[in-house]
Amino acid sequence: MEHASVNPWAALAYLVAGVCFILALRGLSSPATSQRGNRMGIIGMTIAVVTTLVTHAPMLQVAAIGNGAWFELDTVTLIEILAAIGIGAAIGLFTARKIAMTDMPQLVAAFHSLVGMAAVLVAAAAFLNPQAFGIADRVIPMIGQPFFAIYPQSRIEMGLGIAIGAITFSGSVIAFLKLNGNMGGAPILLPGRHVINLTVLAAILGLVAYFTQDQSPWIFWTITALSFAIGFLLIVPIGGADMPVVVSMLNSYSGWAAAAMGFTLHNTAMIITGALVGSSGAILSYIMCKAMNRSFISVIAGGFGAAAATSDGGAKVDRPWKRGSAEDAAFLMSQAEQVIIVPGYGMAVAQAQHALREMGDKLKAHGVRVKYAIHPVAGRMPGHMNVLLAEANVPYDEVFELEDINGEFAQTDVAFVIGANDVTNPAAKTDKTSPIYGMPVLDVEKAKTVLFVKRSMGGVGYAGVDNDVFYMDNTMMLLADAKKMVEEIVKSLD
Ligand code: TAP
Repeated sequence: MEHASVNPWAALAYLVAGVCFILALRGLSSPATSQRGNRMGIIGMTIAVVTTLVTHAPMLQVAAIGNGAWFELDTVTLIEILAAIGIGAAIGLFTARKIAMTDMPQLVAAFHSLVGMAAVLVAAAAFLNPQAFGIADRVIPMIGQPFFAIYPQSRIEMGLGIAIGAITFSGSVIAFLKLNGNMGGAPILLPGRHVINLTVLAAILGLVAYFTQDQSPWIFWTITALSFAIGFLLIVPIGGADMPVVVSMLNSYSGWAAAAMGFTLHNTAMIITGALVGSSGAILSYIMCKAMNRSFISVIAGGFGAAAATSDGGAKVDRPWKRGSAEDAAFLMSQAEQVIIVPGYGMAVAQAQHALREMGDKLKAHGVRVKYAIHPVAGRMPGHMNVLLAEANVPYDEVFELEDINGEFAQTDVAFVIGANDVTNPAAKTDKTSPIYGMPVLDVEKAKTVLFVKRSMGGVGYAGVDNDVFYMDNTMMLLADAKKMVEEIVKSLD
């Protein structure tokens, strides 16, 4: 069988597709260039798919005209492939148009489960029909039936591919259920879970090694079953607050599963793309862990958020605090020289970004300098706030990262915190017992006045802890739905 990788034109086309994917990732690193990045990704994927189809065209044609010699290959017709692409594209288009921005993390988790399942199915197909994949030699033993012996290196690729794919699948399903609220976000801590997990992982690795010596089906299917189980066991103890890190980690796994299967299928594009997805997902997980001051190991070990989830909600509302109105807020901000807006998860829930941009425009018309401060883990997914502000056409030069703006709060008249909580909590700097201790936070309390928009005093942020900023002398609480409050403020600014 002639493999795609030995055709120099196909290799060149896959290389071009790989370069497009790298440029796509580069583009996606900033909201200003993200659309261009997306287009590069589409071009790269089109080149990869067309090249694969063209490289396999003779095989497809022969299969289509029903030449018996090729039936053994178990290939499908071009029409079937195009129909599958059409169905997949239609589902993707429908979902992308319908999905709310706040539901994006669970959508990503659901899609990753499909990548994991695809890797499992490809590995199973290769195991059941190795000669069609060109990964086996026909062996005629002295006694017994002739059979196809899979090359040892292919068995390793296949074993690892199916293990990573199955872990990605069951882990992503649990992540989806937790993020979508079908399953409680609190960590489920099984007794002796670390020992169980390590034992199952060791068994999987041992079986993959043994698989190189013996290709009996029980070994292959036991690896598959144990990997599905470990995906479930690994993710169940992880709390909802850490789920975005888990999703990005599973994204990384799905990339490595695809790369492993790329070796089995001798497909350069799959190896390149898998490696890119694998490494970018790993880097993203690392960045998120750093922004939350958590170690990657502590996220994987699970259990974070258990105390918060079982407490009575955290907020001690018996302390004195000040309530303000939309008119008060409009007056204070219109008198300010500079206002820094700090958006968080609540802004996304309320979909307040458009009203917020309008408020910014009104304030600028009053001669106020307006800036937006973005915490790296504000919201529920990386870049969550940037995407929403970009959607509302907030100018990029008004949007600042934590490290670039944190020094400015002390010289700012008003910090307008809208639906953010944990990312402004000074306990992260002072209280060693706080679950968010060590996480870098926005120094909103240093502003002359803090306007804090949230719905109730009792509502806590994702980490489930109280926030001292609510009770400070320079804080005015604006208790309402974020969008309604901002719309009221806009009216008062007229
Ligand atoms: P949170 O700390 O979760 O606080 C959200 C706030 O929004 C709450 O105080 C809530 O109070 C308020 N809120 C909810 N719905 C609202 C509405 N409709 N109108 C007005 N207010 C509303 O948000 P954050 O500051 O953005 O922090 C993000 C958290 O997620 C951090 O703990 C972070 O570690 C975690 N996390 C994020 C990521 C990524 S990548 N972004 C990854 C992992 C973990 P009320 O209920 O009283 O309204």
